[in-house]
Amino acid sequence: MANSKKSGILRLPFSDDLFQRTTRAPRLRSNRTNVSTTQKPIMVKEYLRLFVKVTRHGTYVDAFAGPQTEEDCTEHWSALQVLESQRLARDKLIKDKQQPHLRNFYLFERSPRQFSRIEDLRRRFHDPPSFNVRTKQGDSNVLLPELLESGAIGHREATFVLLDQRTFECEWKTLERIAASRPSGYKCEIFYLLANSWLNRALANLNDPGTAERWWGRSDWDCLRDLGASDRALWLVERFKNELGYTYSSAWYFMERLQSESSRIHYFMVHASDHRESQKFLDRAYGNLGYPTMVRSPQQANIQELLGEGPETE
Ligand SMILES: C[S@@+](CC[C@H](N)C(=O)[O-])C[C@H]1O[C@@H](n2cnc3c(N)ncnc32)[C@H](O)[C@@H]1O
Repeated sequence: MANSKKSGILRLPFSDDLFQRTTRAPRLRSNRTNVSTTQKPIMVKEYLRLFVKVTRHGTYVDAFAGPQTEEDCTEHWSALQVLESQRLARDKLIKDKQQPHLRNFYLFERSPRQFSRIEDLRRRFHDPPSFNVRTKQGDSNVLLPELLESGAIGHREATFVLLDQRTFECEWKTLERIAASRPSGYKCEIFYLLANSWLNRALANLNDPGTAERWWGRSDWDCLRDLGASDRALWLVERFKNELGYTYSSAWYFMERLQSESSRIHYFMVHASDHRESQKFLDRAYGNLGYPTMVRSPQQANIQELLGEGPETE
């Protein structure tokens, strides 16, 4: 915490040295795939299933839409799972009426090989006028603000943006432009991946410090190295509220299992929304994953205590 205190920016109500190991880390069931990777699409899909019940319509934007790796042939892929579940909803008729479902899907991907997978999805799912899948290859830091500022998505359209980057790919100015893209009403909802277990290594191996600065949007990114997992996540949560103007923001941890049979926080999904209902849906979507607790607010955020985690580990 020393550096961050010096920077005078981080004002979190606790510090890592207050935490003590009180419970054992949760056991995760699968050891074949990285559990946290398989659980994220489940949470996104389930959250959107609940979201659309309230909004009755909506747009899904996946800015880093390719699967985890080019070789990944599993179903654990958010774009695929969201499209499948929303099309099931579209196809479900009750008393001859279609069920609420998302109608518009924008999938962006930079890598040509990954993009070919996205194109496969488009061919498989695009079914206008009630199911529109649009894809674009390129840098989401350019494509996404262009889309939001083009008027293609109406300002009243409920819009959910998945920013499932690997580490530093989503620039802060992109978040600023998402948050500023609506003149009034609800801003686009965001789910944003914050790396944890590999973040220190990634920061240490950067060839160009400008990468971290563009990602974090400020020069104090190096303070992150000294912080524990929950302090980082909560710092970001505060930034979503204070700098981007979101009413609600919370961070949700996903674990990875180590060979030693212990586990650690792999990454966080940070959520931001202006909609009160979103908090209930997050609880439900995350609750399905079987983790013992969650990080929602500074008061509930003693995850190191709950999970027996020390400061950031590699
Ligand atoms: C972590 S993977 C996404 C995982 C996926 N969302 C899932 O559910 O499994 C990140 C993807 O973003 C792509 N990517 C990286 N930088 C990008 C950028 N600036 N614009 C668009 N796509 C990018 C990568 O090629 C990769 O396919």
